[in-house]
Amino acid sequence: RWLSAALCICMALGLAGCASSGAGTVSGRKRIVRISHAQSETHPEHLGLLAFKEYVEDNLGDRYEVQIFPNEILGAAQRAIELTQTGAIDFVVAGTANLETFASVYEIFSMPYLFDSVEAYHETMMDTDYMEQIYESTDEAGFRVMTWYNAGTRSFYAKTPIETPDDLKGKKIRVQQSPASVAMTQAFGAAASPMSFGEVYTAIQQGVIDGAENNELALTNNKHGEVAKYYAYNNHQMVPDMLIANLKFLEGLSDEERKIFTDAARISTEVEMENWDEQVAEAKRIAEEDMGVQFSEVDVEAFKEKVLPLHEQMLEENPKIRDFYSHIQEVNKESGQEKGEDES
Ligand code: GCU
Repeated sequence: RWLSAALCICMALGLAGCASSGAGTVSGRKRIVRISHAQSETHPEHLGLLAFKEYVEDNLGDRYEVQIFPNEILGAAQRAIELTQTGAIDFVVAGTANLETFASVYEIFSMPYLFDSVEAYHETMMDTDYMEQIYESTDEAGFRVMTWYNAGTRSFYAKTPIETPDDLKGKKIRVQQSPASVAMTQAFGAAASPMSFGEVYTAIQQGVIDGAENNELALTNNKHGEVAKYYAYNNHQMVPDMLIANLKFLEGLSDEERKIFTDAARISTEVEMENWDEQVAEAKRIAEEDMGVQFSEVDVEAFKEKVLPLHEQMLEENPKIRDFYSHIQEVNKESGQEKGEDES
């Protein structure tokens, strides 16, 4: 598997000596900047990254060419992060679940029902000054988060209906490769089966697992709706994706270049967010009408009850998440008050 993965990467990168120096190649006089991600070419993240490419090349086109590699072709998240860590590639988009083993503060996003609302989630993530201190937490590991992408709200879906938490009992559910998500799934009473995103379709199809949990785009972009027909809106997590850069690459940029890459990252988030809601609505329509997926509104409180004790437990076990947790509780409170005022 390792050999074929290595061959794949060599082919995808089109390098003669890709095992050698690592850091990006120079084609002609241009430095090639490589970005790896796990989504399809129609996904909002890909559209965001195209905007990133365009902005960098419009401003620094004489020096840099940005190449985007979708669909995990350079490797699944964990592997692609390692490639970014060593500088074999320059950027990767990966969910925070995959960062937990590099910086434990990222466990916080796997905490179920952390955000009270989508508004509170967005407000927290848009607070760039606050988030910057979180983004710096992987410096020791050799990479730095540049920006976040909305990856919606995650819910369970399976081959058989999930109406109450009891329906999860005994089901084998794929989770991301994150210890906190494993604990969450077990608290719901299911058996957690961590695996990479690209393996999920076949695992459901072959009955290795009964279902998974994700946002609606997984049903269509990744075709999971072909093999799992019941999606329950229990809304347990909002786990963002991160655009991660090799730290040496960033530090090697001039101030002018660094600003352009930083602005490009911000713009990519704007474009990604602009496309998100529309694509989710479209995914829901296609899943329902063309794939026969049934979406059900469930009693979210009943699901919440099962896993809320995890908040205390996680805070107890991981001091690194405590400040961030309090900060999010403040945002939850304020955004709840604003909502209340708007409605009255
Ligand atoms: C979403 C998310 C990805 C993540 C995937 C998964 O698609 O955007 O970053 O890898 O879920 O469940 O693995």
